[in-house]
Amino acid sequence: MCGIIGYTGYREVSAVLIDGLKKLEYRGYDSAGVALQGSEKLVVTKTAGSVDGLKEMLINLADSHLAGIGHTRWATHGRPTEVNAHPHSSCCEDIALIHNGIIENHSSLKKWLSEEAGHVFRSDTDTEVLAHLIEEYYENDLLLAVRKAAAKVKGSYALVVLSAKEPGRMVCARQDSPLIIGLGERENFVASDIPALLAYTKDTIILEDGEFASITKNDVQLYNQEGNIIHKDVFKITWDVESAEKGGYEHFMLKEIMEQPVAVRETLRQRLDMETGEVTLDELDFNQEELANLEKIYILACGTAYHAGLVGKFILEKLAGIPVEVDVASEFRYRDPIINKNQLAIVISQSGETADTLAALRLVKSKGVKVLAITNVVGSSVSREADQVLYTWAGLEIAVASTKAYLSQLAALYLLSLYFADKRSGLANNLAHELAAGLVALPGQLKLLLNDDNLQEIKRYCEKLAKWDRAFFVGRNLDFPVAMEGALKLKEISYIHAEAYAAGELKHGPLALIEEGVPVIAIATQKHILEKTLSNVQEVKARGGDVFMITKKAFAESFKKGEACFYLPDSAEILMPVLSAVVTQLIAYYTAVIRGSSVDKPRNLAKSVTVE
Ligand code: AGP
Repeated sequence: MCGIIGYTGYREVSAVLIDGLKKLEYRGYDSAGVALQGSEKLVVTKTAGSVDGLKEMLINLADSHLAGIGHTRWATHGRPTEVNAHPHSSCCEDIALIHNGIIENHSSLKKWLSEEAGHVFRSDTDTEVLAHLIEEYYENDLLLAVRKAAAKVKGSYALVVLSAKEPGRMVCARQDSPLIIGLGERENFVASDIPALLAYTKDTIILEDGEFASITKNDVQLYNQEGNIIHKDVFKITWDVESAEKGGYEHFMLKEIMEQPVAVRETLRQRLDMETGEVTLDELDFNQEELANLEKIYILACGTAYHAGLVGKFILEKLAGIPVEVDVASEFRYRDPIINKNQLAIVISQSGETADTLAALRLVKSKGVKVLAITNVVGSSVSREADQVLYTWAGLEIAVASTKAYLSQLAALYLLSLYFADKRSGLANNLAHELAAGLVALPGQLKLLLNDDNLQEIKRYCEKLAKWDRAFFVGRNLDFPVAMEGALKLKEISYIHAEAYAAGELKHGPLALIEEGVPVIAIATQKHILEKTLSNVQEVKARGGDVFMITKKAFAESFKKGEACFYLPDSAEILMPVLSAVVTQLIAYYTAVIRGSSVDKPRNLAKSVTVE
């Protein structure tokens, strides 16, 4: 949840670090710091504020540094204060390090280091233990000291370490927390995520769990746990610097909402024949017999990815006829679920680094269940630990509130359902053809949906909604998971307390919350239950609820003139969640902008939750 960066080379070190940290602030932004390495000593500068504040503090610092490390924090252990900010140093201040992750056995190590080895601790963090541990083992070989320290540690870490005695050298270690090395000419980089590197290089090496690296400006050496040199492929990033910037939009979130037609098209590309609607998923290799014997699918995920899974359940059951259970990963991993080999686990994760989802993945794998990952980040932990991966090609998603990744997860689940249906029973039924044809039209329909008139219409509704501190989303059947996602989006960026209910559930309690003017967003896109949903909406209106309908153009005659209705383009009903979700995203976005909240970096949240 923190952003880390390291650099050694010919450029102005502090400038590279600050630039990289700015691009990593979406990972955590409650405090920041850098350590700059001169020919003799390390200079550590930290602040309990933003990277901009840190930049101010570095202005007068002469720049004759050989290497440096920088960190932007999202506190887990120790409040966001200057002393708890990274980098953390050893007693003699000749070792400094930055860390992303959690050291689970930090208390016992701290006790040993302070009581038996005489180390003096400055902060309340788990991380500082590492600086003293490395100092304890240091005998003029930083790599060896880091390896020895890592062997003592339990937990997750992406680590970059400097020693004042080894000018120009950075040593890194990775366990359960992302770390990428960027390769350059007479310079090299290391960072927790791609945006920090893109301005300088597209050639990267992804460090895996248990691996170490020794980096100087002219050399990158990789080592395994045993300290043997290993070789790894260079991975070329296809994203450009621009995609890391806002592309002219006020917020990354709006840019990413507007990128959804492309994100869905790219995710369908080479997998859906836009002529015939035929689906080929070459990256998957499920055999007929395996799928025929499949008794059950578990979908495991968190947050928005979990909501995509709820839509996936409907589609997979309807098209492939396989029973699907969708679980919140943080609950699944401690629920002792009934697992056996005739099941498949689909884990969904935009970042591919969410700790609870990763743990759920490892749990089912340990019981011999095959795991298929749907993720957006190549080389992420989930992608490397799953048996098979279906990547969403949504591109880099920076805003904490997930939008284009969610829509591309839905697209991936539609493809997967057609693939399983075809493998299990052939695509005889009309629904499969309707879906395939609908998918072909989807990118174009999304583009249409995101036209200016629609944006203005939604913005007008949000002027009213923004005045409230609570709101409700209701829907039935396939509309209910979208109502849940809409409520999550509004909650996480506008801080309005929004709740989603299955419309049929209202009269069993939630209806008590409806009073004059309370905003209720009702989603009705499914013909076979339209009347049921509309009668629930009447119950709300009867208690003074102020209803905003999201429905299909085809259902217009069911509504009176003047009723607040947003009409979606007509598409296959099974595909409507993709279109209705976009409207709920825009409602959250414009309401948050009107309420002045920090849209891309909402309080208390982070883009990738790498601790449980
Ligand atoms: C969604 O807007 C949130 N950022 C959050 O709920 C997110 O979906 C959840 O943390 C899962 O993240 P993942 O898809 O990267 O695993």
